[in-house]
Amino acid sequence: MNENTAGPSSAVVRAVQRAARDGQLGTYPEYQAARRACARHFGVPAGQLLLTNGIDDGLKLICDTLVDPGDVLLLPVPTFTMYRFFHSVAGGKVIELPYDRSFRLPLGRLLDALHPRRGRPPKWLVLANPNNPTGTLIPQAELKLILRGGPDTLVLVDEAYFDYSGETVLPWIKQYPNLAVTRTFSKAHGLAALRLGMIFACRELADCLRRAQPVFPVNSLALAGALESIRHPESVRRHVTQVLRNRALLCRWLDSLGVPYAPSASNFVFAAFGEHAPEIARRLEKQGILVRHWSHDPRLRRCLRIGIGTTAEMRGFIDALQGLRRLIAPQDPEKVWRETFEGEPPES
Ligand SMILES: Cc1ncc(COP(=O)(O)O)c(C=O)c1O
Repeated sequence: MNENTAGPSSAVVRAVQRAARDGQLGTYPEYQAARRACARHFGVPAGQLLLTNGIDDGLKLICDTLVDPGDVLLLPVPTFTMYRFFHSVAGGKVIELPYDRSFRLPLGRLLDALHPRRGRPPKWLVLANPNNPTGTLIPQAELKLILRGGPDTLVLVDEAYFDYSGETVLPWIKQYPNLAVTRTFSKAHGLAALRLGMIFACRELADCLRRAQPVFPVNSLALAGALESIRHPESVRRHVTQVLRNRALLCRWLDSLGVPYAPSASNFVFAAFGEHAPEIARRLEKQGILVRHWSHDPRLRRCLRIGIGTTAEMRGFIDALQGLRRLIAPQDPEKVWRETFEGEPPES
């Protein structure tokens, strides 16, 4: 699930252990100092930052606060499934806009959809940037057009994988009251088990969301780990450097097999292995290697999402896949994309 498989640095682990020993387990968490430290680190006023129990919890909070039955979520697809999940639980409707074959946003259609001929504009639009599962990035000029083109729609830019792409719109929350940005400590910081995410937004929206939050949404150990992690940015940088190197290695190897893949700005690669993709995933799983597959989704059935792990893990993966080469037919990239993304969309 695109985690940092090496986990956090030993300094972060020690900070979590210290927090558990120092009597913090018996008392409710204290947020003020942590919020101030995070605000300093991210370069935003503390009032414009919310601590959430992972981004997932932040998505639920947005839906609890803003989404009424029948409201529309505009969603470029394929993308992270939890946007649709929480929106649907709140009774909302989803309008899907498929990415094109080169994984570019259907910008014209998206801008049109922000101004429907009948009814209200969509309540919100989510852009995972980089996107999951494709790993692709939306150019900043396009993000600006969207923010300007839909002032009455909340645009959530989910930057869960920011540490790998290095591209952010976080400073834009000063200019655009319709923008919210999410970040997480689950990925490059290696703290997925502790659950810590953040929402950044203009003061008015942040206050509105905060009023709907539980009093203690985040636990003390997650905060102890996250604060130590931002005190040691060099550990995260080392991890990112290793991921980028291993990603290049994997892409070279996919090139040599003729397996097409989307250009990734993240810590995973979305590749079209063809009709045996689910079978390849099942066989890898028997060897203890988990890759994401979509056996039941006609649009994604031919693809696998491969997380970038440590160098040893990537060698293990490539070795295991060598043994399955007969299942990887040489591909015509154009044909694979056409079959993958231009078939009938599934029922939504
Ligand atoms: C794009 C995206 N956003 C959010 C999340 C969830 O993050 P968290 O662990 O902070 O809930 C994921 C996890 O895979 C993701 O891919």
